[in-house]
Amino acid sequence: MEKRTELYRGKAKTVYTTDDPERLILLFRNDTSAFDGEKVEQLDRKGMVNNRFNNFIMTTLEEAGVPTQLDQVLSDTETLVKRLTMIPVECVVRNFAAGSLSRRLGVKEGQALEPPTFELFLKNDALHDPMINESHAETFGWATAAQLAKMKELTMKVNSVLRRLFDDADMMLVDFKLEFGTDAEGNLVLGDEFSPDGCRLWDKETGKKLDKDRFRQGLGGVVEAYEEVASRLGLKL
Ligand code: C5P
Repeated sequence: MEKRTELYRGKAKTVYTTDDPERLILLFRNDTSAFDGEKVEQLDRKGMVNNRFNNFIMTTLEEAGVPTQLDQVLSDTETLVKRLTMIPVECVVRNFAAGSLSRRLGVKEGQALEPPTFELFLKNDALHDPMINESHAETFGWATAAQLAKMKELTMKVNSVLRRLFDDADMMLVDFKLEFGTDAEGNLVLGDEFSPDGCRLWDKETGKKLDKDRFRQGLGGVVEAYEEVASRLGLKL
């Protein structure tokens, strides 16, 4: 597979076209950003850890019946994926209160949310990814009602698969964000990545944060925490 031109440079990944019009290459960089790109640092090994981690999670989800864009890992930091037309709506599920939900609704961090909440955010840096509802998504043409229904169904399925996976490794899956796209046949497919950059994971016993909140909150040991998560899941990096 030959890497061609840079298609898109995000805050942590770069997307390249290839000689196959239906395949793209994701390059996981060491760049780590928070607060809409206001805080950016290079963290050694992060690109490699997230690439391996994402491959493990996407493979697990694919086996559980969630269609993903994963094709195959190409190197330490590169993965071949199916080309998707991305839907600019982020799906967030929360099993415990934290982050923007706690700030927005005044709910104590760590409060169990039963049933888990499901939220939509518009992917738009200039507007700081505002929260939206299904009506906005349909009216402004970001996603159809059928796509939104499928996005919610698949996100909830991902939650049930991954909650158990992390629970078995003594971690709480607090919340996470997913992005979807459509393939050449119009099927809804899970895209982007799943890594500790886009979810919250706490140690079940101590509550230790093992995700990007370590970076956001200046707690240090960011990549070491990601590596600990990987090692608890039995992943060899
Ligand atoms: O900030 P907030 O509490 O809304 O984030 C909820 C979850 O979604 C967190 O796990 C966070 O890492 C993830 N997220 C993300 N990318 C964004 C916004 C949130 O990965 N742009």
